[in-house]
Amino acid sequence: MSSKMKVIQSIEEMVALTKSDLWSGTIGFVPTMGALHRGHISLAEYARKECDIVVMSIYLNPTQFGPNEDLDNYPKTLKADLDKAEKAGVDYVFTPTSKMMYPDGFKSWVNVEGITDILCGAKRPNHFRGVTTIVSKLMNIVSPDLMYMGEKDYQQIAVLNTMISDLNFRTVIRPCPIIRESDNLAMSSRNAYLNEDERIRARVLYQSLQKARTLYKQGTADPEILRKSMQELIQLHAGKIDYIEFVDRNTLDKKETADDNTRVIIAVFIGSTRLIDNMDLV
Ligand code: PAF
Repeated sequence: MSSKMKVIQSIEEMVALTKSDLWSGTIGFVPTMGALHRGHISLAEYARKECDIVVMSIYLNPTQFGPNEDLDNYPKTLKADLDKAEKAGVDYVFTPTSKMMYPDGFKSWVNVEGITDILCGAKRPNHFRGVTTIVSKLMNIVSPDLMYMGEKDYQQIAVLNTMISDLNFRTVIRPCPIIRESDNLAMSSRNAYLNEDERIRARVLYQSLQKARTLYKQGTADPEILRKSMQELIQLHAGKIDYIEFVDRNTLDKKETADDNTRVIIAVFIGSTRLIDNMDLV
């Protein structure tokens, strides 16, 4: 599609579009919570290359935030987001309100078991229940063929793939590579919370992942030894470790011994900001 990007505010209008003649060909979908950065833009660009119609949603989903998390402070930059989306070639931006997504009397939740109890799920109760519920709703409203998601949220992709398979959604997730700043900090809306000193210290996330990879390539396969070397480096930069886990890149099962299918996934507080990152060991 070409013409000017359209902003759709109501669920009814969005659903009507999916049923109209305008809506033919492959539909690519980029779900976001706004505060768009180059990571999001890269997802839209992948979608643009592969799909006939590109839809982005911008909706700050309250149900995936815990009571002590940063929902109120989450950056809200709608006007700039719309400009960026248009430049990236998005055709439609869906911007529902919470009243529409969670009207009075809302009672239905989508919950994936097991894989949501580990890693971020163990630290953020109900986070993934909020994600799976809102993404189910968005997929039902937008009817995408392909959904573009960044691998920075590696567990989110694994959880959603489980849900898609278990509940027979027809959408296929396209996992897209992590986009990094020039000093390799993974792009995230949360980076905006870091002060100057924290921003420099945040480089240690990537550095620690690289360190594990280097040690693995040199022959160290014991996750305890790899974890310890990462811990030392992160603590040197005053990072507070939430978790460091070595998991199977497909199932997210913990690894007793690292191998070429191992992905290391970390969450680290730099100051009060919780950052996540991950990397294959090969
Ligand atoms: O990854 C995100 O930004 C969110 O978790 C998502 C998928 C848009 C659901 O609110």
